[in-house]
Amino acid sequence: MAIPLLTPHKMGDFNLAHRIVLAPLTRQRSYGNVPQPHAALYYSQRSSNGGLLITEATGVSDTAQGYPETPGIWTKEHVEAWKPIVDGVHAKGGIFFCQIWHVGRVSNTGFQPNGQAPISCTDKGLTSDDIMTFSPPRRLATDEIPGIVDDFRTAARNAIDAGFDGVEIHGANGYLIDQFLKDQVNDRTDQYGGSLENRCRFVLEIVEAVTNEVGPGRVGIRFSPFASYMDCGDSSPESLGLYLAHALNKYGIAYCHMVEPRMKLADQRFETLQSLVPMRKAFQGTFISAGGFSKEEGNRAVEEDHSDLVAFGRLFLANPDLPRRFEVGAALNKYDRTTFYTLDPVVGYTDYPFLEEV
Ligand SMILES: Cc1cc2nc3c(=O)[nH]c(=O)nc-3n(C[C@H](O)[C@H](O)[C@H](O)COP(=O)(O)O)c2cc1C
Repeated sequence: MAIPLLTPHKMGDFNLAHRIVLAPLTRQRSYGNVPQPHAALYYSQRSSNGGLLITEATGVSDTAQGYPETPGIWTKEHVEAWKPIVDGVHAKGGIFFCQIWHVGRVSNTGFQPNGQAPISCTDKGLTSDDIMTFSPPRRLATDEIPGIVDDFRTAARNAIDAGFDGVEIHGANGYLIDQFLKDQVNDRTDQYGGSLENRCRFVLEIVEAVTNEVGPGRVGIRFSPFASYMDCGDSSPESLGLYLAHALNKYGIAYCHMVEPRMKLADQRFETLQSLVPMRKAFQGTFISAGGFSKEEGNRAVEEDHSDLVAFGRLFLANPDLPRRFEVGAALNKYDRTTFYTLDPVVGYTDYPFLEEV
């Protein structure tokens, strides 16, 4: 009997050979925001013929960063640096989308040009902890918002120039777009705040601009309506998720990628009765689910038609040949959390063994 995750799926013009997607994973090894040659090896290791890969979150502008050594796609140098990485994925028949990102208030003045305040929909700040220091954000003026939308448009153009097959707009996990979406953060009184429609305006303007720039078939988007990372929660995540799923249909984009409600924190699982199924039903394109999936749960999600594709984060991080391991029923390497975000170009990055080496 066919393994559901290993059956083909047509996503617009892309013929995917299987349904196992590399989830976007920040790895903090792009020194000075420039993607490095070691990323070519890392992504090519995780490529397979007809498999979809999504890059780590990649900054759209010089105000978009909030973590050390994360890649950008706003300069010519970034575009040139991404090219060999994209070529490596294509050489193995992979389909590669670049996740384009703005952190908003999840930042501090040290990451910002001229030491300015990070920007957000709000001037409410995050509380610093042992790991991260946050500076109070500056609330964007209404007439500055089109400029940020345009940064996403330019980043999408740059991604296509670098050879990517498409972009994934990062609307999840508490970053700038999510800050606009969620009513526990967005306290604006202009047309970008208040009602659900107003809070979703910013992201839909980005979707429209990016779609017009590169074509709808090259655009995906990621949301986490149920999550509350970075103090970014919503009082009615079901309504938010459903509104977005319906609103996206107008643009005919390639895919909608959502994080499962059980992932309330970045990588911790909680049991819940909440579900993405209503959003999956509402959205007319390819639907990707992510968050805490095992092989069995992924197979079940596809079999029960709860998702078209399943994105795997930590399992794919630690198993470069994850689709092959699923196919042959092999044991999995364990991931090492302590090296997720270290700067080493090899350790915990490209040194996870393939099946033959185990
Ligand atoms: C090391 C690490 C880095 C991550 N970086 C990103 C990122 O850049 N963009 C994003 O949307 N999600 C990011 N996530 C979330 C993952 O894409 C995924 O949703 C999460 O790991 C849950 O899926 P999993 O249980 O399969 O790992 C990251 C998660 C981890 C563990």
